Amino acid sequence: AKYEATVTAPVNIAVIKYWGKRDSALILPTNSSLSVTLSQDHLSTRTTIRASPDFGKDRLWLNGVEEDIAASKRLINSITTARNLRAALEQKLLSEGAPAETVVPLSKWSLHVCSENNFPTAAGLASSASGYAALVKALGVLFDLPQSTSDLSRVARVGSGSACRSMFGGFVAWQAGVSDDGHDSFAVQVADRQHWPELQALILVASDKKKAISSTAGMQTTVETSELFAERVRSVVPKRMEAMQRAIAERDFGTFAEITMRDSNQFHAVCLDTYPPISYMNDISRSIVSLVHAFNAARGRVAAAYTYDAGPNAVIYALKDDMRDLVELVTYCFPRDDSTLLEAFYPNSFAIF
Ligand code: DP6
Repeated sequence: AKYEATVTAPVNIAVIKYWGKRDSALILPTNSSLSVTLSQDHLSTRTTIRASPDFGKDRLWLNGVEEDIAASKRLINSITTARNLRAALEQKLLSEGAPAETVVPLSKWSLHVCSENNFPTAAGLASSASGYAALVKALGVLFDLPQSTSDLSRVARVGSGSACRSMFGGFVAWQAGVSDDGHDSFAVQVADRQHWPELQALILVASDKKKAISSTAGMQTTVETSELFAERVRSVVPKRMEAMQRAIAERDFGTFAEITMRDSNQFHAVCLDTYPPISYMNDISRSIVSLVHAFNAARGRVAAAYTYDAGPNAVIYALKDDMRDLVELVTYCFPRDDSTLLEAFYPNSFAIF
């Protein structure tokens, strides 16, 4: 028999940002966050894992290039956590009287992991979220784990915080939790994709350069140095989590969009309040902000929202009809140089400037 599993996992884009850890080994966040999972057509990771008693050691290939697993604590942590769940399952089956030959000792075998992104890594788009989500999904299938998706999201979380949200489609909340062991820090689905099919996302790639300061390093410095950050965690995010969930439940785009923009702006303000300051947005990012506000002013309502992660690329949310007009406006205002235009899909698309 062949012990192998192949899965895909999508990218998610937060509308209430995760930024800051209270425990960096277990990856426990200082605040809850909420995201929208994008369609897998344009941005996703596909991972195949094979187990064999003959492999000798775990190995990993990312986009065809072998990586050193031993060099990544996060990889080791997530694989070990899944393996421990498998070991517990094997033990349970045996103690319940299952014949030994029917319980394959997968927890003791080595793994070959092969992971590919269907988007250009050069574009600087987040890949750790879909990457770790795909890894953990594949381990769940391979090991036949009985755990729920929320349970498995805890395993993805120890790989990369935002990865726990990519375990679900649709609208997803990562509950920060309060416990030291992280058992209450996991992702839950707030609503599925079908709940709000008119909502679309557009990715505008403002630079394909690798970001200067990683999220992991940046958020650590923020926790240590920013006073604004403490205020955000204490009084702003809890209110926004509630208001955002209400907006999604009611399909209230105006409220959804305003909170999304305000939260992105506050996240980048907190980065600037970090010492030494961190700045992820560039001139193109800032002109897209102005363009979206001008578009909304012209419509006389909040018809589109922007959000930026730890880099200059914009993600725009809008309802279908508005998105069509906005794409036209963006392509008019930012005439693209053919050499840098990789792809322009619509909907759920990305364009490179
Ligand atoms: C700005 O999940 O990449 O995208 O947990 O250290 O792996 P680690 O960080 P990561 O941080 C993502 C930060 C963000 C906001 C978000 O996705 O919520």
